[in-house]
Amino acid sequence: MDPACLARALMATGAEAESLRIEADAARREQFGDAVRLRGIIEFSNYCKNRCLYCGIRNGANGVLRYRIPDAEILQTAHAVRAGGCGTVVLQSGEDPFYTKSHLVDLVKTIKEETGLKITLSLGIRDRETLRALREAGADRYLLRFETSDAVLFEQIHPDAGFAARLSCLRDLRDLGYEVGSGFMIGLPGGTPESIARDLLFTKSLNLQMIGCGPFLSDPKTPMNVQPVFPHSLYYNTIALLRLMNPTVNLPATTSFDALEPGGRDRVLSYGANIFMPNMTPRKYRECYQLYPNKPGVDEDGSATLEASKRRLAAAGRTLDPQ
Ligand code: 5AD
Repeated sequence: MDPACLARALMATGAEAESLRIEADAARREQFGDAVRLRGIIEFSNYCKNRCLYCGIRNGANGVLRYRIPDAEILQTAHAVRAGGCGTVVLQSGEDPFYTKSHLVDLVKTIKEETGLKITLSLGIRDRETLRALREAGADRYLLRFETSDAVLFEQIHPDAGFAARLSCLRDLRDLGYEVGSGFMIGLPGGTPESIARDLLFTKSLNLQMIGCGPFLSDPKTPMNVQPVFPHSLYYNTIALLRLMNPTVNLPATTSFDALEPGGRDRVLSYGANIFMPNMTPRKYRECYQLYPNKPGVDEDGSATLEASKRRLAAAGRTLDPQ
């Protein structure tokens, strides 16, 4: 597909947007039926050594109380993820060097042995040897977004990270036998429909097993306090196009769609998404893990979030996939 044609599809409104989304929904149904895969996410540390310009928990952000969930509590939460019927636990944190290779290996091994869950890690850039050890310890998947396919923009907004290093980490993950997830923030400041079209084409070229994308949301605590200029329809069209361009990929309805507008994740579920990731982080930590404003569910506990997610899926006529 050529970028100009994709850019036009991204800007679709009215009947044109409607038919794009209906097509994406049909593609999702053909591949996965109506079953949604639930993946319980535990945000176990908000310490981060990086100062990514857009992120609410960037190193040095004012007013962020830092926490690390004790291992025993992470494990207990992983048991709740399993008891709640999720087939996968996602362990996410900032880039926190406190968690050494051996610490993470122990954590992954214990969770695997005690719960048998599939384990997805989302810990930022790690060296190949650490990733190898974690894979061997039982980690199945890894999420690492490339954020933008524009290498110059990437380095402007990531003062502590290089674009090449990120791609090389994605290659390591693939070589080591992980199922790899990546994606980008939709509508970064300065972006255009054409640049989003390039992000879509780049995503496809990575041949991913999972694609996580959500709208960029401006956070007043960060240097990137710039209000997005795109209509909401563009974010939803992006998801529909991701599904149409990657028919077999796992596509989550990411949390930031609910921060964009109430019911955002439900809309994404009907425009191609087949994954829902209930936040299982214990309530007392939640308000400290806000990558962007208006994050939903910060005043709920894990079981309430999970039950609410199940009600949402049922209301949307979707069933639960146990895997
Ligand atoms: N708006 C939207 N998404 C954000 N993320 C971080 N900060 C923001 C923001 N301000 C996303 C990044 C990261 C993921 C965990 O959260 O894409 O990879």
